[in-house]
Amino acid sequence: MSKPLVFVSRVPPPRGMGMIEEVCTVRAMREDRFIRREEMLEGVVGVEGIFCHPPDKVDKAVLDAAGKSLKSVSTMSVGLDHIDLTECKARGISVGYTPGVLTDATAETTVSLLLATSRRLKEAFSAVLDGGWGTWENGLYLCGKTLLESTVGIVGLGRIGFAVAKRLQPFGVQKFLYSGNTRKDWDSEINAEFVSFDRLLEESDFVVACCSMNKENVGLFNKKAFSKMKKSAIFINTSRGVLVNQEDLYDALKSGTILAAGLDVTSPEPLPRDHPLHTLKNCVITPHIGSATVHARNAMAELAARNLIAGLKGEALPSPVPQ
Ligand code: DGY
Repeated sequence: MSKPLVFVSRVPPPRGMGMIEEVCTVRAMREDRFIRREEMLEGVVGVEGIFCHPPDKVDKAVLDAAGKSLKSVSTMSVGLDHIDLTECKARGISVGYTPGVLTDATAETTVSLLLATSRRLKEAFSAVLDGGWGTWENGLYLCGKTLLESTVGIVGLGRIGFAVAKRLQPFGVQKFLYSGNTRKDWDSEINAEFVSFDRLLEESDFVVACCSMNKENVGLFNKKAFSKMKKSAIFINTSRGVLVNQEDLYDALKSGTILAAGLDVTSPEPLPRDHPLHTLKNCVITPHIGSATVHARNAMAELAARNLIAGLKGEALPSPVPQ
């Protein structure tokens, strides 16, 4: 029997790729760069499965290009904003994703970025290399902000938000606030208070975006939101770049409306090298490395490969997207 043809828009680590290659005929974009739209549209023609990763869009046009043969879409991510789930459902295409296995890695990145931002590591790294390595000055050379006795506001206390809070607790955080659609049962484990978005902005020393993206929260962190935050607040985003109005963030950082920001996600990605945010010493940007541990990426690849293969066989997926 011939093997099903699948298109891989982002090649996963070898273990996951090996699992796919064992049972499928693979057409793949193997270069180390983001796939172009026309390559995606061309690559999927006539396939039974698509293996993807954000931001590679699997929208109506891609589903149309793939045609009636398409049975299974599998994304190596927890984020689903790049996939038209309604269209997939209407066409009877199974969609799998990889929640859970990347929670710890993403929480680690969030904490790293928060500390890098609050302890001014961007400026510190530059100072070592560019001759700016200063002295004690008035005792405040490269001094940053502490988590000790702070209030941390988590926007979205889901798996990742909760894992971030658990990791921040031992730093001596005084209070956790969180906002979102619903109160979470597990909030008592970290003694977190469910509050309105506005109250979270007003009272937090650190505002951490951990929510998933949807149509309603695009541009949530805008001029109005930044103006409600403390002047000493630090904003961290490891969710999706589009949650933030980047022009407003630039103004807020430049004018001192807030103290600093750490972003692992931007819009677009990659953020152009001449983007104004790069000129700010109080803006720390990393290249969407939330889940980038070898352990997490292997687990994501394997789970996504199993999802893809189960979908091709018409079997129940190990990790289906909730419908
Ligand atoms: C996810 O899993 O959604 C990540 O952001 C992609 O690496």
